[in-house]
Amino acid sequence: MKALVTGAAGFVGSRLVTRLKADGFDVVGVDSITDYYDRSIKLDNLRRLQGDNFEFIEGDLNSLNLVPLVKDVEYIFHQAGQPGVRKSWGKDFSAYTRANIAATQILLETVKDSASLKKFVYASSSSVYGNAERYPTSESDRPQPLSPYGVTKLAAEHLCSLYGENFGVPTVSLRYFTVYGPGQRPDMAFTRFVRALLTDGEVRIFGTGEQIRDYTFVDDVVDANVRAALSKSEPGEVFNVAGGTNISLLDAIHTLETVAGRSMRLTHVDKVAGDVARTGGTTDKINTALGWAPTVTLTDGLTEHFEWGRRIWSDSVGG
Ligand code: NAD
Ligand code: UGA
Repeated sequence: MKALVTGAAGFVGSRLVTRLKADGFDVVGVDSITDYYDRSIKLDNLRRLQGDNFEFIEGDLNSLNLVPLVKDVEYIFHQAGQPGVRKSWGKDFSAYTRANIAATQILLETVKDSASLKKFVYASSSSVYGNAERYPTSESDRPQPLSPYGVTKLAAEHLCSLYGENFGVPTVSLRYFTVYGPGQRPDMAFTRFVRALLTDGEVRIFGTGEQIRDYTFVDDVVDANVRAALSKSEPGEVFNVAGGTNISLLDAIHTLETVAGRSMRLTHVDKVAGDVARTGGTTDKINTALGWAPTVTLTDGLTEHFEWGRRIWSDSVGG
């Protein structure tokens, strides 16, 4: 089984490569190692992946010659992208259109006539829903992104669906809901909070802290990718991948404090544009089609996330 993982050096991509290698896939990873966050984190991820069944190609999907890269590939896991809801305004937007829309179109165009490709799994996002029509939100509810990031993820998702419809490219889009766990990006909430707990730092809450998120543990997201690749589905299919937490940020912080056995210093700052009040997805569709359901509770997931943080930042507070 030959797989291509784009964004292989990133948070979700690197965790996915580990799983694919363990499952016996031959994996080619590609990543341009952008400087959106500390590149040494991505280089560390890649060091851990070195060894059998993994070849890494450093390069940008927007400019690489992708033809040799997709030759004989059966499964593509397209994780590469420019993430981050709150940074997608202003002059930074071009990075989002380039990495999320243009790169996806180039990749789809390259595999349009592929004879070997069995599945093209796209890492979409709950941000396509914006402040949704209803909760929990289902795949058939109207997407209405609230951030420029969400617009680019939705556009790329539509590209996947229309290459499916027009050319039969076997695409499937997975709408991830706020992914957390070991290796989470340093710009995301829980990694910032874990770091603050371990280094006596201060945490900034954007807005009231009443915003609700459906947090999803990274290994559950990885498992959804593998199931999506290996199961039958109509080209252009879309699935929510949601952990089912339905918890406010302040309550999630309380859970993390309980896990860590200590409390955080919080300060409230203004809400950031693009940040939705609530996410929450139904998982009935993916459960029926792929047999997927979240398996990791927030307490267990945050325990792993905190232990991972302890290994990185050692513990300068609690010992
Ligand atoms: P990440 O930034 O850790 O990983 C993305 C990787 O893609 C990075 O290593 C980056 O260097 C690479 N990349 C970016 N542009 C590229 C290009 N043009 N060519 C080659 N490589 C490129 O982010 P992540 O959190 O692991 O997210 C992975 C994917 O999942 C993204 O597409 C993101 O939009 C999506 N997603 C993430 C979450 C989440 O909570 N983490 C939620 C919903 C969707
Ligand atoms: C996350 C990812 O960053 C996006 O790439 C992804 O597409 C999105 O999930 C998704 O589900 O689609 P977000 O929900 O904002 O976005 O994830 P976090 O960065 O973990 O933030 C969670 C909440 O904590 C947000 O309401 C945010 O405003 C808040 N937050 C974050 C803070 O209050 N302080 C911080 O320092 C960081």
